[in-house]
Amino acid sequence: MPLPESFLQEIADRNDITDVVSGYVRLTKKSGSNLFGLCPFHSEKSPSFSVSSERQIYHCFGCQKGGSVINFIMEIENLGFRDAVEFLARRSGLEMPQGESYDRRERERMLELNRETARFFFKNLSGAQGAKAISYIKSRGISPEMVKTFGLGSAPNEWSVLRDEMHKKGFSDKELFDAGLVRKGKSGGFYDTFRDRLIFPVIDIRGNVIGFSGRLLGGDDGPKYMNSPETLVFSKSRNLFAMNLAKKSKKGYIILSEGNIDVVSLHQAGFDCAVASLGTALTPEQARLISRYANEVIIAYDSDEAGQKASARAVGILEKLDIKVKILNIKGAKDPDEFIKLKGADAFSNLLHESENHIDFALRGIINKHDLSIDEQRVAYIKESAAVLASLPSLVEREVYSMRIAETASVSPKIVTDEVERIRKGKLSKAKKSYEKAVLKVANDAHPKEKSMRYENQRSALAEEGIIRLAISDDTLLDGTHLTGSDFSSNILGKFFDVIMEKSQRGAPLSIATLGEDFTGEEISHLTSIIEKPEILINGKKAVSDYINIIKTEKQSSLVDDDALKAYQKLRQDNKKGMVENNE
Ligand code: CTP
Ligand code: MN
Repeated sequence: MPLPESFLQEIADRNDITDVVSGYVRLTKKSGSNLFGLCPFHSEKSPSFSVSSERQIYHCFGCQKGGSVINFIMEIENLGFRDAVEFLARRSGLEMPQGESYDRRERERMLELNRETARFFFKNLSGAQGAKAISYIKSRGISPEMVKTFGLGSAPNEWSVLRDEMHKKGFSDKELFDAGLVRKGKSGGFYDTFRDRLIFPVIDIRGNVIGFSGRLLGGDDGPKYMNSPETLVFSKSRNLFAMNLAKKSKKGYIILSEGNIDVVSLHQAGFDCAVASLGTALTPEQARLISRYANEVIIAYDSDEAGQKASARAVGILEKLDIKVKILNIKGAKDPDEFIKLKGADAFSNLLHESENHIDFALRGIINKHDLSIDEQRVAYIKESAAVLASLPSLVEREVYSMRIAETASVSPKIVTDEVERIRKGKLSKAKKSYEKAVLKVANDAHPKEKSMRYENQRSALAEEGIIRLAISDDTLLDGTHLTGSDFSSNILGKFFDVIMEKSQRGAPLSIATLGEDFTGEEISHLTSIIEKPEILINGKKAVSDYINIIKTEKQSSLVDDDALKAYQKLRQDNKKGMVENNE
């Protein structure tokens, strides 16, 4: 029996690849979010062995070996897959699973119970049971639309309503207890965990209800907020409240706030990219989750001292992943919710823009370096600034900033705009060339040794790689697409895809670690090199449909080729026959 993916994921999560590799390899160089060292698997003088803490993979650009922390231990300790897993289990104090405890059915049942529970809490809002929650929702200015979007609910002030309701639906006390929905009383009986609270379901990026967060409705029975305990499906440190919504945002950045109510307020004000960590300081796993969807984060923590300290810590964690980070200065309010209520959405938007001015920041740095009264330095100032502006995607922005630089340097605007466009053209043609080179190189790059992995149709294979990359990061992007591995031009990519989809349908976590048992070392190395290439998920749905179009068109044209070939062969045969007949 294969090891359960949830366990493999846990192994990978508990054994940070940077830590583990550091025990064997001195990682000396840093480039972006990757660390480099001398490859332990082949001899070399300059470091081409890279470790990505963001993706939790290693990859050697020299010998092409790569994989998860499990593959690393397999290679370096010369162990089989299971033994490597056991090695890492021991290292992190985990027990090897004994079949039962990681049962997939158990997981599915728990998700079903959570879904039913969320439905029950939501339904309560419309009855007498929900009057108190409704009036609280109104008092916090939350709109009916947001109540629906977040699926807010009411846990009435009773000891056994959820429990009774779920019994009726066939769930046992043990199941309720394991899901954290009931607690054990002193006399051995069970009672509802969430009572007299406004309920915020916590939904993962796949749309599963994995847990709950409940806020007191005024009484003082317990802490202000109460979260589900850690369960088979819920891990506070690995999830973010509202990430299921924010991942669909078109904003291109994520707003990270402290509180559930802040998130609801922000979404209501149009900032649909807001998330919150679930009552914990930001964890590296949460940061990794964010990095899959955006490369910019704006931290909007409470303005008090605790919030500011937490911001500083979060910055450190996010910067390690090469995410652009900005901190919002929430002036005159304690948190985003209060700020928006006091000053409105436009004022908050201004706040975001103020924090956003990284161009100004970069330009200020350049100007400070140069004495503009010296001609030589004035030229350098213009050139360096132009290089910054050249990477701005918007023409308007490039023009506006060019004028400002021209004014500062007392030259005509055209000089600056021409310089900016010249640099930009150079950059674009370089980018185009390197893309074309990548297309050409991909077959050789992939695996020169392993013939079975070479790509016959490179254009299609690049798109197939893209699909695989996206599917591993967020398999919901593939929902409703009906693609299968047999549509792929490359056998190995098709095989990757089918295994990924099979796991996805079971709700298993997807990563190089959880795919490790299904493929050979060479295959995993190849898959790792695919994962390594950058892909931003923010426009994931569009990317998926573009890739699928390429795959389908290429398949069509290869079929046409096949048909043409068959028709040609038939023609030749017929001709031959004809010739024979004619001869007769
Ligand atoms: N939190 C928690 N457990 C607590 C307190 C807080 O899990 N005992 C989490 C909740 O997710 C909460 C967030 O931390 O939303 C921020 O807490 P806090 O700032 O105390 O809440 P407020 O923003 O003041 O909450 P509200 O606006 O609902 O009064
Ligand atoms: Mn708060």
